[in-house]
Amino acid sequence: MDKILIEGGNRLVGEVTVSGAKNAVLPLMAASLLVDGWTTITNVPSLRDIDTFKVLLRHLGCEIESDGPGTMRIRTRDVPVPEAPYDMVKTMRASVLVLGPLVSRFKKARVSLPGGCAIGARPIDLHLMGLKKMGAEVSIEHGYVTVTAEKLKGAKIYMDTTTVTGTENLMLAAVHAEGTTVLENAALEPEVVCLADALNRMGAVIKGAGTDTIRIEGVRALKPVEVRVIPDRIEAGTFMVASAMTRGNVLLKDCPLHHLESLSVKLREAGAEIAEEAGGVRVIGDWPIRSVDIKTIPYPGFPTDMQAQIMAMMTVAGGLSVITETVFENRFMHVGELKRMGADITVDGRCAVVRGVKHLSGAPLMATDLRASASLILAGLVAEGRTEVSRIYHLDRGYERIEEKLKRLGAKIERVKS
Ligand code: EPZ
Repeated sequence: MDKILIEGGNRLVGEVTVSGAKNAVLPLMAASLLVDGWTTITNVPSLRDIDTFKVLLRHLGCEIESDGPGTMRIRTRDVPVPEAPYDMVKTMRASVLVLGPLVSRFKKARVSLPGGCAIGARPIDLHLMGLKKMGAEVSIEHGYVTVTAEKLKGAKIYMDTTTVTGTENLMLAAVHAEGTTVLENAALEPEVVCLADALNRMGAVIKGAGTDTIRIEGVRALKPVEVRVIPDRIEAGTFMVASAMTRGNVLLKDCPLHHLESLSVKLREAGAEIAEEAGGVRVIGDWPIRSVDIKTIPYPGFPTDMQAQIMAMMTVAGGLSVITETVFENRFMHVGELKRMGADITVDGRCAVVRGVKHLSGAPLMATDLRASASLILAGLVAEGRTEVSRIYHLDRGYERIEEKLKRLGAKIERVKS
């Protein structure tokens, strides 16, 4: 398994291009199950999660071709066995996104329940509640959920908790349903809007994406399209924090700043300068860093996927920061590793109190989940001495060659085989 080694202390200076959004690609790949024809997706990053989803779609019978770097073509003529097995779903919860399109087009799906994951229980009860409301038969046995429906019917569905993939799954199920489906308390994430835009170009009739109420009118048939994936706001946010905490001066190209309002407010409060320029978004870090309080909530609030990264920055800020994680119940696993670097953090339930210290010291660390691993890399950039992060397969799920991008910005960082 690879490791990443970092010698801390370098400022980040230069330009970096933001890759396509992992969490937009995955639902678009699921949408390709809806049509018999070649769906083309461009600006696709090279990530483990996307490779995992390709394995699942090929297992279902999809043909997948690569049309050059960053371009993927998918055709789904038929799905002889609409089943997503445990060994595929357990590695990536987003596999459940095949449920909606499989039931919608092939009347049946049998998908392994995702089980828990490092950051929380992450049930799919709301996905299943919505499908039931649309007339599907849902049964759970032997760790699998089987969903069948001769023809889904439009329904009014209120989701008790705002769920991103739940909103996406039900949208994918509703596009062929008989009648109109209304999703209430829907997720507003840009990735949901990207999916809705693509589906509308495929012939769907979806209104309200980007608000908490989405109306989907069922249509008879969809046609395949070519869609370009939006930039990854979480990768962009990670590089914004990297520049802000290393007294950097980094120009982010293809940066979706309009998707990062809440993060930008907090980084400016912490002392960073953020300005849009002709070529992108420039982030200039200041010193000392000012401590800020953070509370993660669904979009457009402060993203839970940026909580671990901003915490790394707060560990070397000049005061006390209270970070509250309201979305997932166990998303502080980076805390133990940061404390091994000398961070002063106290966790009480969903709240972490971070007292800034003068400096962190490099240490051997272990990544536990995707965004926690990014947090450890950021901490290593400012720590005194050498930091070694193992189990970076977590990192490769959602960041495209992050060590190469950071090295080009002046970081002393490299990936080694261990
Ligand atoms: C999406 O996960 C993202 N993944 C996550 O990104 C992100 O952290 C999360 O949204 C929140 O923004 C993808 O888009 C592929 P949720 P998702 O359903 O959809 C509860 C990353 O780092 N819930 O919005 O799985 C759930 O337990 C990943 O790239 C139910 O109770 O998250 C959680 O507390 C990590 N029942 C809350 O809702 C359900 O049926 C939000 O979860 C569904 C969800």
